[in-house]
Amino acid sequence: MTISELKKKFIEIYGASEYASQESSSIDNLRVFAAPGRVNLIGEHTDYNGGYVFPAALKMNTVIIVRSRADRLIKLAATDLDDRVVASLDNLNDYKNLKWGNYQLGVADQLLKHGYKITGCEMLFHGTIPYGAGLSSSASIEVATALALATIGCEQTNKSNLIEKIDLTEMAKIGQKAENLYVGVNCGIMDQFASAMGKANHAILLNAKDLSYKLVPLNLGDNKIVITNTNKKRSLADSKYNERRRECEVGLKYLKTAFPQANYLGEIAYDKYKEHEHLIKNDVIKRRVEHVLSENNRVLESAEVLNIGNLDEFGRLMIKSHDSLRDLYEVTGIELDTLVEEALKIKGVLGSRMTGAGFGGCTVSLVQKSFIDEFIEVVGKKYYNRVGLRASFYISETGDGASEL
Ligand code: GLA
Repeated sequence: MTISELKKKFIEIYGASEYASQESSSIDNLRVFAAPGRVNLIGEHTDYNGGYVFPAALKMNTVIIVRSRADRLIKLAATDLDDRVVASLDNLNDYKNLKWGNYQLGVADQLLKHGYKITGCEMLFHGTIPYGAGLSSSASIEVATALALATIGCEQTNKSNLIEKIDLTEMAKIGQKAENLYVGVNCGIMDQFASAMGKANHAILLNAKDLSYKLVPLNLGDNKIVITNTNKKRSLADSKYNERRRECEVGLKYLKTAFPQANYLGEIAYDKYKEHEHLIKNDVIKRRVEHVLSENNRVLESAEVLNIGNLDEFGRLMIKSHDSLRDLYEVTGIELDTLVEEALKIKGVLGSRMTGAGFGGCTVSLVQKSFIDEFIEVVGKKYYNRVGLRASFYISETGDGASEL
């Protein structure tokens, strides 16, 4: 839908201006905010371990049409859902179990807790990121909501235009907090950070421990990033995700005697860890730690080889990453493994791996342009024959981070 169609839809849902403040009485006064999804190129399950990740923001995004209200009500609607939510800013704890709307209200709650003065408003959401596919549709909702509410709230309270002053890194942190505390998934910062800070044609080399980052130009030569969706529902994702996180904490405890200063697993260098791996008495935990620390190295190597245009080596690192996520971290599954296996059989595929949390969701592959048609046809067919599901393919374009449009 175009922005003007979305604005019309907004007026259909909420009316011209019955409850709105006087300034926003016409369609032209509706505000529009957007935040993208992301694909992680490499560096999986490293962020909550204080390690490195390497995501890129996508063009697929969440757009919000917003109008402020004179009272404390937040009204939510979406173009693809019949649910309508009406919530009060004064009792945001009451809505944690909503099927839809809890991300947005969790963000409002966090903004208030961080001292932002926000006002009531009406919001219409429209997303082009497939839900539950590991491309961060939820982070994009959180970041777009945070930016919209913080921007409008600041302007209403200070009567000045403060958009430049809204700190996007802080919006990312607020989105993450909302997901941790309000939605109950103990996710790291990667998705929200990429959604807030991404830049078209770049990937972000992010140190998740202190949020220092570098934008790395994505010079992919004759290749494109192809995202393949398993279309498998990620039912176990949240509980297994939190379980992996706990296992890493246990791993760090084992290693504390050798690394008393380390607050995160990701602070321990891989080769130093190898000298002390005997400290970990449990094989499962050892495999988890081995993945996190070797993956951390692969992220840094990837940024280096991409910088000098060595795409073949980047492809090899992607393949190693997937192997590690399958064998050591155990977050792949038949759907992701089949997609990667079939992808790697196609000439012209430099690398392929799962992206995001795992247990379903998507793979990301680096494919020579002239092989993309074959890739889609053959991988799609083989996947269907072996798994019984139809995959979806997105030739991914990178995009910019969150902004007001
Ligand atoms: C999800 C989380 C991220 C990150 C990835 C795995 O996308 O939201 O914080 O942990 O999984 O790399």
